[in-house]
Amino acid sequence: MTFQQAPHKLLMIPGPIEVADDVLYANAHPAMAHVAPQFVPVFGEVLTNLRKVVNASKDAQPLAIAGSGTMGWDMTALNVLQPGEEVLVLQTGYFSDGFADALNAYGVKTTKVEAPVGKRPTIDEIKSALKQKKYRAVTITHVDTSTGVLSDVKAIGEAVREVSPETLVLLDAVCSVASEQLRFDEWGVDVLLTASQKGLGCPPGMSLMVVSPRAIKAFESRSAPPATYYLSWKHWIPVMKAYESGSPAYFGTPPTNLIYALNQSLKTILEGPVSLEQRLQKTKEASDKVKKFVNDLGLKQLVAEDLQQSNGAANGMTAVRFPPGMKAPDLLPKVAARGVVFGGGIHKECKDEYFRIGHMGVSVVDSSRNDIDKLLSALKEALAEAGYKP
Ligand SMILES: Cc1ncc(COP(=O)(O)O)c(C=O)c1O
Repeated sequence: MTFQQAPHKLLMIPGPIEVADDVLYANAHPAMAHVAPQFVPVFGEVLTNLRKVVNASKDAQPLAIAGSGTMGWDMTALNVLQPGEEVLVLQTGYFSDGFADALNAYGVKTTKVEAPVGKRPTIDEIKSALKQKKYRAVTITHVDTSTGVLSDVKAIGEAVREVSPETLVLLDAVCSVASEQLRFDEWGVDVLLTASQKGLGCPPGMSLMVVSPRAIKAFESRSAPPATYYLSWKHWIPVMKAYESGSPAYFGTPPTNLIYALNQSLKTILEGPVSLEQRLQKTKEASDKVKKFVNDLGLKQLVAEDLQQSNGAANGMTAVRFPPGMKAPDLLPKVAARGVVFGGGIHKECKDEYFRIGHMGVSVVDSSRNDIDKLLSALKEALAEAGYKP
C-alpha cells in the first residue's frame, strides 16, 4: 500500500519533528486491544529497544506511558524523591528550571548551580556544590532545548561518583535521545526521561523512561507511598515487566497506536538503513552545516563561543540570535511562507531575541528529502527579504 503525507510545511523546530512515512503509517494501525496477543510483543519490543537506544543493560527498567516529557519530571519527583529531600539542579536554561519547578511542586528542595544564558555549570562548580551539602540527587538537562547547550553527562557522572557516589543522577534526555551520544550504564545515569516527539521521530504523546536498579531501590525504600495514583511506579513497573516478558497486564490503557509508531521508529533507529552511530554522525554533520551557515551569515548562536568549540552545543538543534533590530514577526513568517517552520525563543531572559532550528530524525538521516538545504535556503531568502545584509 502506498502512503503519502498530506502537503504540509516542513517542521524544523526542536520537537515535535517531521515523522517518517513508515512511522506515520504504523500510527494508523487499525484498532487493537491493548491486551491482544498480537499487540503484546509489539509493546514488549518497544521496551527492549528503548533500553538499547540509550545503551542501558538488562538491569535497567524501561517505562512507556501516555503523556509528554514533562510527565517524566513529575514521575521522577513522585517515585524517586520524597518531600524535603535536597536535589542539586544544574542550570542550563528554561528546561532545567522547569525540572526544578516540578520537583518543588512535590516538596523537594532544590539548589541550583547557576549558569548564564548559553552556558552550563563547570565541572569544578558542580564538584564544589556537591561538597557543600549531601544531595539525594542531581538533575542534568542533556540538551536544554531553550538554548541548545549540551551537557557533558559523562564528566558530570564521574564528578558525582567521585564526590558523592550515593547521589542519584537524574537526566532529562527529552531532546537528546537518538540525536546525541548517550550511555546510560557507562555514565552512571539513574533516571533517564524522554518523550516520543523529538529524536525518536514519533508523534507526541508518550512519556518514556529508563531507570536504574538504584532508582527502583529508592522507590521501594520510600517511607511513604508516592502521592499519586496514575503516576505511581507501583502500578506501572509490573505492567512493563509483564509486556516485556510476553503477557498482557492492565493499568491505564496504553496509547496502542503510538506504541506501533514508536516500535517502527525504534526499529529504524536500531536496525537501519543506517545504524544508530551513523544516525548520530549524520545529525552532527547536519548540525555543523547549519551552524557554519548561520555563522557565515554573520548571525550569532545562543550557545557561548567556548562551548561551541568544545562539544558543548547540541547536534540536534541550533538556537540563533536575530540580527540587531529584528524580531520573530519580522523573520519567522517569511520563513514559513517558504514552507519551513522554525521555533521561537523560550528562555525567559531573552525569548524575543532568538529563534530555534531543529535538525534531527528523518530530516537528517534521509538526505534525499533535502530538508537541511530547504531550511537553509528558506532562512537565507527570508533574511534577505527582511532587509538583512550579511
Ligand atoms: C529538554 C526538555 N525537557 C522537557 C521538555 C518537556 O517535554 P514535553 O513538551 O513533551 O512535555 C522538553 C520539551 O521541549 C524539552 O525540550
